[in-house]
Amino acid sequence: MKGMKKMGSNHKKPLLLMVLSFLLMLALVGCASSQAKEKEPINTGLDPAEWNSYAFKDKYPLHWESFMKNMVNEKEVKPKNDPSIEPYLPILWNGFGFAVEYNLTRGHTYAFEDQMVVRRITGNPNAISACMSCKTTLFPKMMEEFGDQAFKLNYHEEAMPWIDKMTAPDKDRELGTYGHASVGCSTCHDPVTMDLRIAMPQLTLSLENMDPEIMQRQLGFTLDTITQHDMRSLVCAQCHVEYYFDPANNAHTTFPWTEGVRMENMWDHYEEIWEKDGEFQGEYVSRLTNQPILKAQHPEYELWSYGPHQTVSCADCHMPYQRVDGKKKISSHRWGSPMKTAEESCRTCHADKSETELKDRVKDIQTVHKSALLEAQDIGATATYYVNRMITRQVDEAKIKEAQYLLREGQWFWDIIAAENSKGFHNPQGAMESFRRSIKASSQAIELATIELMKLGEDIDELKKQIEITKQNVVNETVSHEKHLQAINEWFPNHRDKQ
Ligand code: HEC
Ligand code: HEC
Ligand code: HEC
Ligand code: HEC
Repeated sequence: MKGMKKMGSNHKKPLLLMVLSFLLMLALVGCASSQAKEKEPINTGLDPAEWNSYAFKDKYPLHWESFMKNMVNEKEVKPKNDPSIEPYLPILWNGFGFAVEYNLTRGHTYAFEDQMVVRRITGNPNAISACMSCKTTLFPKMMEEFGDQAFKLNYHEEAMPWIDKMTAPDKDRELGTYGHASVGCSTCHDPVTMDLRIAMPQLTLSLENMDPEIMQRQLGFTLDTITQHDMRSLVCAQCHVEYYFDPANNAHTTFPWTEGVRMENMWDHYEEIWEKDGEFQGEYVSRLTNQPILKAQHPEYELWSYGPHQTVSCADCHMPYQRVDGKKKISSHRWGSPMKTAEESCRTCHADKSETELKDRVKDIQTVHKSALLEAQDIGATATYYVNRMITRQVDEAKIKEAQYLLREGQWFWDIIAAENSKGFHNPQGAMESFRRSIKASSQAIELATIELMKLGEDIDELKKQIEITKQNVVNETVSHEKHLQAINEWFPNHRDKQ
């Protein structure tokens, strides 16, 4: 890992300090050139370590009102493995908690609470506190309290009692039980100056681990040249990114960015550490193929960074200026689909197109995107069963290994895109490139398996029939969290070593 080796020597300066001093510099330059326009520096009088969003309520009533709209924006929570969404997930994720339950998202103010009640946390006594590192404004305080153990605490036994103690006085007010400690003001703002800031340790660490040349080329800045415009996306990059819990660094939440932020760069990062002792190998081992699998998470920031809107910040579209209270303009603090605010979010630049035209264009992109995703998943599921049969028939070890690795690759390149929440809009071409690579790898696995199985006289037509029936059984099972049980049967047994 080229970037990793360089880390620590020359560019490991504290990012926050640099961002702050850069902002200060901007303020000074601003002063010199346009004294009249210069705003008074803000001092809210709040504690610099304030984490509770209620503390900001009376100071910013208009922002508060906007922020509260995240509470009414409750969506129907539908399982993602529903036949109408992504039907083969229970096969593709067999062996992982997500195969059991994975729901569509709700708003920021529910983020913390939603995580606590999801079955992959409640059903896992070994869940760790690293899961909280992008869900609560309390995380920086947790790091102060628990030091380098902060990411490794037992979720239920150690982290939750502390969280409950900290949040207790303000529970069950207008933000619900944990809304005041969920994604909140202090996540993105310095509580004293209200400047945008990076509060979460994982983004700082991951940018520091990156080669500055790659950062400049791909993101357009280095740690010393981050602008206010960059910050309008970087505050989101604290969480809307791919990550893993690094076993070689106390389970610290880490982004695989040493080779860059594109889908293939992140794959290269994981490939570099593949089969190295003590390094991260994947989130789970597939029951069907006994292969460690990378479970991808929401790379909105990464995919956006090389898409057609890379010069438009996340906040431009997702937090457009809105006139409130009849007069004042503020940045919307209700995070959701920009299609609900197309006038303010899009027509500021695309005035030549009507709202309907813009919405139709987005839908077109998303429709094409979805069909490519389903195709990649379909081939991936089929490939999974071919490899399962290779193991059952005990074909040559080296060939099994080769096919297993192709599955890992195929899965990464659709999963990282499926996990991206814009359904292709942020970067239509980048998403397609990724699906193409996925389909290629899965097809190679099927090809390899076919050759090896035919050598042993396997009836490939019969195998195909069994695969179709099994897939159908998964689709037909109506109980969402039992679908994964249908993915394993007498034809396709559980091959996982460690249960
Ligand atoms: C501290 C972590 C964090 C930060 C920072 C963050 N988000 Fe989120 N965001 C989340 C989580 C977690 C969810 C999913 C919430 C859930 O399912 O309960 C989410 C959901 C969303 C949604 C979907 C909301 C819905 O109703 O479905 C949008 C849109 C969004 N975020 C945009 C942004 C933008 C834009 C930024 C930067 C200005 C940002 N987020 C910063 C964690 C974060
Ligand atoms: C996910 C990140 C995020 C969170 C959470 C957040 N803000 Fe903001 N906020 C922003 C961004 C981005 C801007 C635009 C800043 C800019 O470009 O100058 C902004 C702007 C502001 C401004 C400046 C005026 C304006 O409207 O542009 C105020 C005041 C403010 N936010 C208050 C709050 C308060 C109060 C909370 C909590 C209730 C909060 N913010 C939560 C990201 C966030
Ligand atoms: C050019 C405008 C634009 C920019 C810039 C942009 N987005 Fe989006 N985003 C969209 C659109 C359009 C959608 C799709 C909304 C839909 O399907 O209704 C979307 C969807 C999303 C969603 C899923 C929303 C939901 O309702 O579930 C998230 C999360 C998100 N974007 C985060 C980000 C982040 C983080 C950034 C910056 C790295 C970003 N977006 C940059 C326009 C934008
Ligand atoms: C700050 C300006 C800005 C905003 C805001 C903005 N766009 Fe764009 N949009 C651009 C630019 C620049 C391009 C690239 C034009 C080019 O490549 O010719 C673009 C390209 C596009 C394209 C064509 C790219 C493709 O993938 O086919 C679509 C569609 C689009 N925008 C939709 C939207 C929607 C929907 C929104 C609001 C959610 C939005 N834009 C908000 C500036 C903006």
